[in-house]
This record gives sequence, C-alpha cells and structure tokens, in this order.
Amino acid sequence: MFENPVYRREFLEKLGLGSLGAVLAGGQATRALAAEQPKLAKQWQPVSDRKIRVGIVGHGVCRMGADFGFQDHPNVEIVAVSDLIPERCEGLMKACRCGKSYESLEVLVKDPKIEAVFVATDAPSHARHCMEALNHGKHALCCVPATWGSVEEGEQLLATVRKTGLKYMMAETSYYHAECHAMRQIYRAGGFGRLVYSEGEYFHHSPTPVPSFKNWRVGCPPLWYPTHSTAYYVGVTGKRFTSVSGVGFRGDFADYRPGANRYDNPFTDEVGLFQTSEGGSSRMTVCKSVHGLIVEQGRVFGERGWMEGMRYRGAMEDLPEVSRPPLPPGVPEGGHGGSHGPLMHEFVSAILEDREPAVNIYEALAMTVPGIIAHRSALKDGESLKIPQYERPKF
Ligand SMILES: NC(=O)c1ccc[n+]([C@@H]2O[C@H](COP(=O)([O-])OP(=O)(O)OC[C@H]3O[C@@H](n4cnc5c(N)ncnc54)[C@H](O)[C@@H]3O)[C@@H](O)[C@H]2O)c1
Repeated sequence: MFENPVYRREFLEKLGLGSLGAVLAGGQATRALAAEQPKLAKQWQPVSDRKIRVGIVGHGVCRMGADFGFQDHPNVEIVAVSDLIPERCEGLMKACRCGKSYESLEVLVKDPKIEAVFVATDAPSHARHCMEALNHGKHALCCVPATWGSVEEGEQLLATVRKTGLKYMMAETSYYHAECHAMRQIYRAGGFGRLVYSEGEYFHHSPTPVPSFKNWRVGCPPLWYPTHSTAYYVGVTGKRFTSVSGVGFRGDFADYRPGANRYDNPFTDEVGLFQTSEGGSSRMTVCKSVHGLIVEQGRVFGERGWMEGMRYRGAMEDLPEVSRPPLPPGVPEGGHGGSHGPLMHEFVSAILEDREPAVNIYEALAMTVPGIIAHRSALKDGESLKIPQYERPKF
C-alpha cells in the first residue's frame, strides 16, 4: 500500500530545503531498513522429554483440529480426538494418527489421562467448550475468537481461567504472521516508540458464507470475528483499546437482508476506530463484500518508526532479532502464514515451562471484546462506546 513512500527529508530536499530537513528531523535521518533478517541458524532446544497428553476436538470445514501439528510435536501424545459428526471424527483420527475417539467434547474431557484440549469447534461454542475443559482440569488452546458476541461469556471464561489456574491460550493466527511477530519484537525493543496509529485488516470476500456447523457463519457481524485485525495492535504492543466508534456497510448479500440472519445483523463489512491506552488510535476492519479480496494484514505507525509488511522505516539502526521461534524438527509451520506450528508450539512450551502462554486470556479478550463493542457502536450509528478492561495480574 505504501510502495513509494516519500520521506520528509527527500520531500524537503526536493523543495531545496535539504539542510533544513535535517534540522527539522532533529538531526536524525530516517533510514529504510529491511526487517527480514537472514535466517539465523537458530535451533529448537528441547526443554523436557515429557509428553503432554492432548485431546483434539473439531474437524470442521477448515480442518483446524488436525492442522496445527500436535501430532508431529515430540512433546505431545494425542490421547483421543472428537467430533460430533462420525465421519469427521474418523477423519480427525486418521489425520492425527490417533486410535481413540469420543463422541463429543463433553465426554472427552472426562478422560483423566488427558491434560490439555485443543478446542477447534464452531465459534459460538468456544467459550463454553473451553470452560468445560478447564473445569475438568485440562489446559485449553482455542481457535478464534475467545467468545462469540458475548462479553458476559468472555468474563465467565476469564473467571474460570483465574479459578482453575490452568493455561488458556487463543490461537490467533495473525499473532505469528512473520510481519506481526517482527513488529512485536521491534516495538518491544523501542523501534516504534508509542504507536500514533495502527491498522489491521481482514478482508474475505464472501458473497456466500463459508459453510459452518449449524450455520454460525451465516450473516454474522463482521467485527465479532475481529482478532485477525486487532492482533496488529494488541498483539504488537500488548496495549489496549479503550473506546470505539464503529461504522457498518450494508452490502447486497442475501444473508444480510432484514430478517435473514439470526444475529439481526445488517452489515457485511465493519470498521472500528479505536482509541488506545497509549494515546493513539487504531482502525480495525473486517470486510466481506470487497470484490475478490482475501487478505489479513496490518501496519503500525509510531513516533520513532513505522512498518508495513517486512519493511521497517525509522530511527532504530540495529533491529532486534525478528525471526519466529524455531520449531522442533518435523513440526510444520503450517497454514495461515506459517502460524499454526508456532501457536501450537507456544502452547505446549507454556505447559512444559509452567508459564503464561503468549496469547493468554487477557490478550485473547483484549483482541476479541473490542470487536463486540465496535459492532454495538455500528448499530448505534457510530456512538462512541467504552471498552471493558480486564486487569492483568503480574505474572
Ligand atoms: N485463521 C484462523 O485462525 C481460522 C481460520 C479458519 C477457522 N478458524 C476457526 O476454527 C474453528 C473451526 O472452524 P471450522 O470452519 O472448521 O468450523 P465448523 O463450524 O465447520 O466445524 C466445527 C466442528 O466442531 C464440531 N463440534 C461442535 N461441537 C462439538 C462438541 N461438543 N464435541 C465435538 N465436536 C463438536 C462440529 O461437529 C463441527 O465438525 C472456528 O472457530 C473458526 O473460527 C480460525
């Protein structure tokens, strides 16, 4: 989108004011640096030879349960799998090379051998299914979003994570996109300063929805599924959205006409303009009616630098290491920009090392709840609404 940026210095030089440019820029020349570094020979180091005993649930249209590579991780034993639909359950057993299955998540979580569950079921069931797993003493990794349009259910999930003290992680794929990961490392190293502004986008042209269990995708509010976008602020900075004004677009798809969907949702596309806890703003978008476009991406603009794709432009001369954490041999990076493997590996590592996983419940709600509020705002013609904040304990 910014193929040919004009730098302030170049602009002033064009006007014959080059030296003035250096003065106005505070004597700090803006430099263009490539954030993508040559792959260092970083090797995965085992931290334990223990095998976490995992159950996997959900082999729907996107085949997410099998697609994160649990079956290839040296620290994982897949004890059992489940899907309500018998053919899918069989497919999941095959894909995960697992000989045992249960007829439902509700039965699987009763297996005392299982320590952790990957919840790859339909979005409306996520919070309930994770609470079911946690309440049976299992750690939970869950596909996005953390909660489906319900702030209350998100808060119940938070209370359950706090009560049980078990690991909860949301598998937001943008979080481990190479760009988002690099932005996070550079942000942490101070290469952006405070973010003045950021953008996150999930475009998925869907004149007819992707099929889904009990049709949960039909006519759903776009910003109830915000995390691929919001990861480009929350997942970069660890900071929060504090308020939002949302705007919706009424695309001409049958599922969004009056009375056509269970959500009473008229919008095919939504944009939220958020205030952030560091005093900036973010524009987060989920669009289904932009012709032919399918992409998940984001950009960040800070006081000391800005970045889109893998190019950093800014005041930081020595960029930190930005390549993603190494995976054990045989674990594929997987789909969605090579994010599946790193997400699964992070969850497994957090259990082995007994630490908080990267996208814990606080980050998960901070990526999910603002979209729910943004949709509410869009239904009220953009009225500015406050976003609930969930205080993190010091880990
Ligand atoms: N980039 C991403 O992060 C990304 C991409 C695609 C999908 N997803 C998420 O992955 C999840 C799965 O997507 P999908 O399209 O495959 O979903 P889907 O709706 O097609 O399938 C859900 C599956 O869950 C099973 N299920 C529901 N309740 C169950 C229970 N109690 N016990 C056992 N099985 C149960 C159903 O039988 C069904 O097969 C969704 O939450 C979606 O949001 C994320």
